[in-house]
Amino acid sequence: MNIRSKKIKSVINIPGDKSISHRALMISSISNGVSVIHKFLFSKDSLATMECLKNLGVKIEIDDSRIKVFGNGLYSLKKYDDVLDAKNSGTTIRIMSGILSGSSFDSIIDGDESLRARPMDRIIKPLSLMGAGIYSLKKDKFAPLNISGRKLNSISYNMEIDSAQVKSCILFAGLYCDGITKIIENVKTRDHTERMINYFGGNIQIDKNVISIQRGEMEAREISIPGDISSASFFMVLASCIDGSELLIKDVGINETRTGIINVLRSMGADIEFINVHFNYFEEVCDIKVRGTSSLFGTLIEGDIIPTLIDEIPIICVLAAFAKGETIIKNIEELKYKESNRVKSIVDGFVKLGIEIYEFEDGIRIVGGGNIKGCEVNSYNDHRIAMAFMILSVLSGEDIKIINKSCVDISFPSFYEILNYILR
Ligand code: S3P
Repeated sequence: MNIRSKKIKSVINIPGDKSISHRALMISSISNGVSVIHKFLFSKDSLATMECLKNLGVKIEIDDSRIKVFGNGLYSLKKYDDVLDAKNSGTTIRIMSGILSGSSFDSIIDGDESLRARPMDRIIKPLSLMGAGIYSLKKDKFAPLNISGRKLNSISYNMEIDSAQVKSCILFAGLYCDGITKIIENVKTRDHTERMINYFGGNIQIDKNVISIQRGEMEAREISIPGDISSASFFMVLASCIDGSELLIKDVGINETRTGIINVLRSMGADIEFINVHFNYFEEVCDIKVRGTSSLFGTLIEGDIIPTLIDEIPIICVLAAFAKGETIIKNIEELKYKESNRVKSIVDGFVKLGIEIYEFEDGIRIVGGGNIKGCEVNSYNDHRIAMAFMILSVLSGEDIKIINKSCVDISFPSFYEILNYILR
C-alpha cells in the first residue's frame, strides 16, 4: 500500500457547523429582537439561507465574524416577488418550506440543477397533511416549489425516512399551528433544531422518540456556532492514517447525533481523545486530539448509526481504503439523494483509482490496503466528494486530478488553506 509517511503535527480551528448556521439564521429571523451569532459559517450553502431571509425582508448585518439578525416574530417575513434561490442547499429549501407554509403570503423556492434533482415529496407530504398549499412546479416531487402560505393544522407524523431536514421542516411548520404537532422518529437524527428552538424560548418536548412542538413566539438570543464535526472529519481521517501524527482540532461540536464518525474511527483502531468537553450554549463541544497509527482495521457500519454519520460516509470510504481488511457499509440508500448520488460518485472514483470496491443493494464493500494509482476523478460538483478525494490524494501521495474541486466552498471554503497549513 502506498501511504504518506511524513507525520502531521498541527493545531487547527474548523469553521462553524453548517447545519447549526442555517438554523441560527432561520430561528433568529422569526424571533423577536436582535440576535447575535458568533462564528457563523460563511459558505455558499449558509449564505443561500441568508440571502433568502434578506429577500423575505429580514435585516441582517455582518460585522466581522459576528452576525446581527433583527427578528420581528413568527409573522414578520414579507412576500418576495421573485423566486427564492436555495442554490445547492437541501437544508435551505426543505426547512424554509416549513416557514413559508405557515407565513401569510405566496412564494416560489427553487435551487440549482443538483437541488432540482433531489426529492421534495418527503416534505410535500407532511406539509400537505398540515394543510399547506405546497406543490411542485415541475414534476411531482422536485423543485421549484410553489408555496401558498396559510393557516396550518397540527399533525402527528411517523417519519418515513430518517431525515433531520424533514423533521426540522415539520417542526418549523409546527411553530405556526394551533395545537400540538408530534413527530415520531424511527431513528434519532441530528437534533440541532429542537435544542435551538428551546434555547430561543420555544416549546418543544421530547419523550424518547416522540418530539412535540407547540406554537409560540421566540425571543432573540446570543449564540456561538461550534466547529463543524463533518468538516473536521476529513482531517481526523488524514491524521489517523499517518503513523506518529498528532493533530489537535479545537472547538468541535460533539452533539451525540453527529458523532458516528468518532465511533467508527475508534472501532477501526484510531486514537481519538476528547479534551476540554463543555457546553457552548446548548451544544456540547470539545477539542479533538487525533494520534496517527499504522494499525487501522476494516469494520461493519450499519443500522441506527447511519444518520449520525451520513455526511461522513465519503471520508469513511477513504479511511476504509487505507485500513487492513474489509469495510462494509449498509443501509445507505439515502446517500443516493445527496448533492450527488454519493454511492455512484465514490464507486466511480474508487474503481478508477484501483481501489477494490463493490456495490450491493443498499450498501458498499471496500477492501483496504491495496495500491492506489493517480488519475482523474469526478467530484460530480459535490463538496464532500471533492474533499474526500483530496485527502485520498494526500494520503496515497498520488497525483489525483479532481474535476471541479472548488465546489468545497459549499460547506468549507477554507478547506485547501487549512490542508496546506497542516501539510506545510
Ligand atoms: C442536514 C441533515 C442531513 C445532512 C445534511 C444536513 C441538516 O440531511 O445530510 O447535510 O442540516 O438537517 P437529511 O436530513 O436529509 O438526512
